[in-house]
Amino acid sequence: MSNYHVPVLLKESVDALALQPNGIYVDATLGGGGHAEYILTSQPKIRLFAFDQDEDSLTQTRHLAEEYPNLTIIRDNFVNLRTCLALERIKKIDGILFDLGVSSHQINQPERGFSFSLDGKLDMRMDTSAEMTAFDIINHFDPYELKKIFLEYGEEKEAGKIAKAIAEARQNKQLETTLELADIIDKSVFSKQKIKAKARVFQALRIYINGEMEVLQTALSDAVKMLNPGGRVVVISYHSLEDRIVKKFFQYEEKECVCPSNFPQCVCDKKSTLKILTRKPLQPAEDEINRNPRARSAKMRFAERKEEL
Ligand SMILES: C[S@@+](CC[C@H](N)C(=O)[O-])C[C@H]1O[C@@H](n2cnc3c(N)ncnc32)[C@H](O)[C@@H]1O
Repeated sequence: MSNYHVPVLLKESVDALALQPNGIYVDATLGGGGHAEYILTSQPKIRLFAFDQDEDSLTQTRHLAEEYPNLTIIRDNFVNLRTCLALERIKKIDGILFDLGVSSHQINQPERGFSFSLDGKLDMRMDTSAEMTAFDIINHFDPYELKKIFLEYGEEKEAGKIAKAIAEARQNKQLETTLELADIIDKSVFSKQKIKAKARVFQALRIYINGEMEVLQTALSDAVKMLNPGGRVVVISYHSLEDRIVKKFFQYEEKECVCPSNFPQCVCDKKSTLKILTRKPLQPAEDEINRNPRARSAKMRFAERKEEL
């Protein structure tokens, strides 16, 4: 396992998939291939389809595709899960793993622009063929829109102040780099809040640029439609916004009825599709966090597809 990325909750997440011989599985977020390889060695008699939208992940995992004929790697956004699998003549799956967010490799490459402590261009695209970059947002969005992004996706209390400072700074010259942006945030907030504010603003930009919340919602819904009864959906998330989406989604899918409580009888026709198997999310043990501090914020939830009614 190279220093590309150390997989988080590795055994726990693959155990949660409850791999069945001859099953068809999806790793929605291939990254450095740590989870994928563990899946393939844990249950060799499966087919695994692995997605990543980042070309770097494909270069990193090419050796896996050569070593495991039962692995198919797909360079695409997992929001296109159904279409991509249909092209492979796959309509049903037995389990899917989402290990959300960015890999350590992506964060550690200054030129990708994900890190507020490494000097790089304002980019933050996971898919480098996508059009919108952090540069476009920071230099062209009006302060109101910037504030909204920092609030909504970073939950940053000083969003307004930071947005105003960005708008003032760019009047003199366009902002080009991550460290220029980090410096503006540093100067806009109190000393105790500086690191957290930078983390929140960078997170907000990354989520917005990559449409992370929208694609997660759609992909979860498509994944559940594709799951065979007994199939599992396993999600590892790294911040509260993602975890909230997963939690709410699972709760909605588990419900038998969504009629208002004052209705005398059910008229909604809602079917319960999932059984939640984690009432509280699972978190990495202390020794994993000591070995891999990036595991600190991880939360894992999983659920099982119910029988069709
Ligand atoms: C946390 S890393 C996954 C690490 C991986 N489990 C491993 O063991 O190395 C997340 C990966 O998912 C990819 N990714 C994130 N969102 C994606 C999306 N919507 N579609 C496809 N890939 C995505 C990122 O490019 C990144 O490589």
